[in-house]
Amino acid sequence: MDLSLGELFNKYGSDKDRNGYTAFYEPLFKNIRTQQIFLLEIGIGTMIPGAPSSMVGYALEGYKPGGSLRAWRDYFPKGQILGSDIQPDTQFSEDRISTVLANSTNRDEMDRVLGNRSFHIIIDDGSHYDEHQLQTLKNLWWRLRNGGYYIIEDVVANSRIPTDFRKEIQEFVGPNARMFFTEAKNVLIISKERVARRRNGTRRARGVNNGTRHAPRSNGSPSDEANS
Ligand SMILES: C[S@@+](CC[C@H](N)C(=O)[O-])C[C@H]1O[C@@H](n2cnc3c(N)ncnc32)[C@H](O)[C@@H]1O
Repeated sequence: MDLSLGELFNKYGSDKDRNGYTAFYEPLFKNIRTQQIFLLEIGIGTMIPGAPSSMVGYALEGYKPGGSLRAWRDYFPKGQILGSDIQPDTQFSEDRISTVLANSTNRDEMDRVLGNRSFHIIIDDGSHYDEHQLQTLKNLWWRLRNGGYYIIEDVVANSRIPTDFRKEIQEFVGPNARMFFTEAKNVLIISKERVARRRNGTRRARGVNNGTRHAPRSNGSPSDEANS
């Protein structure tokens, strides 16, 4: 029998269910569950004691790095799951899961390891510092496909994401993106609207999110081929 998303997080020892995240992830993703989605998660889950944002002390029993990646892999039966982290103990590959070693706040590093890959879902569960979350969004937003979701987890109580940075984020993602916080106000979800097409099939430029303004500096636009 298929396990629910919450059961999968718990099975693999991620703390996402315990943090209450299943409550919004399940309704958000249930309609795309069976699609061939590409998901990028920043923060694989180091078990090095004392490392920044280590899972030591937070992980459920039996955890090994990549708990949430395995949960996503099982939840999306056709999904391709990619994790990025700065700690070497997080690197592994398994069926439909791969990992890269890169700092999400460094645009050049991310571009080097990701090439021109794009994603339907990008989740930032990395350092949890607001400045890093903002920079990571700026580095990765252009890689989010139209109709996709960009999620910043663990927006802490004194974070500037909902306050000082909010306007900057809204301007950066542009008018075709919708931003909303979860009920507990600790997770920001940004959806990138699909670009409308005219009857004759041409794209209607409806703002900045038609893949041009935040396009990569040198390596082309996101494409399906790049992911396959
Ligand atoms: C909370 S853990 C991720 C847990 C994992 N998503 C899970 O639920 O199983 C956060 C991870 O982010 C990594 N990290 C911290 N800063 C980072 C950065 N700037 N770029 C990429 N990864 C980072 C840490 O090394 C750590 O492994």
